[in-house]
Amino acid sequence: MPATSFSAAPADTSRAGLIGLAPMEGVIDALTRELLTELGGFDWSVTEFVRVTDARLPPRVFQRICPELDTGSQTPSGTPVYLQLLGSQPDRLGENAQVAAALGAPVIDMNFGCPAKTVNRHDGGAALLRSPERVYQAVRGVHSALEGTGVPVTAKLRLGFEDKTLALECARAAEDGGAQRLVVHARTRREGYRPPAHWEWVSRIREQAGVPVVVNGDIWTLDEYWKAREVSGCQDVMLGRAALADPWLAKRIRHWQLTGERLPATRWQDRSALLTAYVQRIDPALPSKVVVSLLKQWLNIMRQHDSEAGEHFQRLRRITALDDFMTALQDESQRSETAMSLSG
Ligand SMILES: Cc1cc2nc3c(=O)[nH]c(=O)nc-3n(C[C@H](O)[C@H](O)[C@H](O)COP(=O)(O)O)c2cc1C
Repeated sequence: MPATSFSAAPADTSRAGLIGLAPMEGVIDALTRELLTELGGFDWSVTEFVRVTDARLPPRVFQRICPELDTGSQTPSGTPVYLQLLGSQPDRLGENAQVAAALGAPVIDMNFGCPAKTVNRHDGGAALLRSPERVYQAVRGVHSALEGTGVPVTAKLRLGFEDKTLALECARAAEDGGAQRLVVHARTRREGYRPPAHWEWVSRIREQAGVPVVVNGDIWTLDEYWKAREVSGCQDVMLGRAALADPWLAKRIRHWQLTGERLPATRWQDRSALLTAYVQRIDPALPSKVVVSLLKQWLNIMRQHDSEAGEHFQRLRRITALDDFMTALQDESQRSETAMSLSG
């Protein structure tokens, strides 16, 4: 597995650990990966899923979801991008993994977590967690197809579909099928995204596993980062929504790992500047209405764990024209700046 190592060793090596940027369909696309990894702290990232049904997909499908395939499968700042497949038919998955590997994907990650009804109805994502044998077969299909390519397969799992009774078996099945790393989102499909994440279950999976296990789910702060590690016993973590809510969290974690110091909390002005950079770099062909709704989607995640972002969101949420939105965003930054100077 191509592992990215730290640029410097932490003084206290018990703090060392990798940080992955989670796949998020419809949210973390190539541009978002570019912006987030530029801020620092991430060791790897994963694409939105490529859905495999009954066809060998043409290269353009992989290149659309993972444009980084054309630039060494790295983001512009050098973070590796792994390609995620979602599907259930071992042969088809294998065939498509071969296409992705030939295009330059460094790792194939398999999705056993997607809760979407349409995906699950067609036997994809978390639906496979009802049968460890099918998890095994799916991973095995990809692993065997990739033999000789040097491209490893990893698996991203939830703790189960309805409940957690098969959590350990499914994790073992993924490993037996050939997965070289397991990322565990510490909730069942039924639990959706509701807190709490059950990091203690990830500990049980880690105890039985012979490959590295990465804990994922509800890590929103530096303190939660450490708690997730302590409870799960995992060194490595993956950040999903928090990477959008607080784009500097990975950097803060990395800084703390290396120095033991806590960097100051992310300011609204920085969030606002990042949203502005997003608009500046987004495909100009995208209709401005779409851009505004993408901005609101991001802001909506930002406000989940930040009351100040929540206040700004309230004032911005009704704006529909992009120019008005950007002007208002600027005004909100000014307002925040003024409030800070008055209070300080
Ligand atoms: C909008 C959205 C889209 C997601 N898309 C994917 C996906 O394509 N593949 C995947 O494995 N997980 C996907 N996930 C799950 C996340 O990768 C992650 O496991 C989950 O959000 C829990 O982590 P968090 O609490 O840090 O957000 C998605 C989650 C969200 C909220």
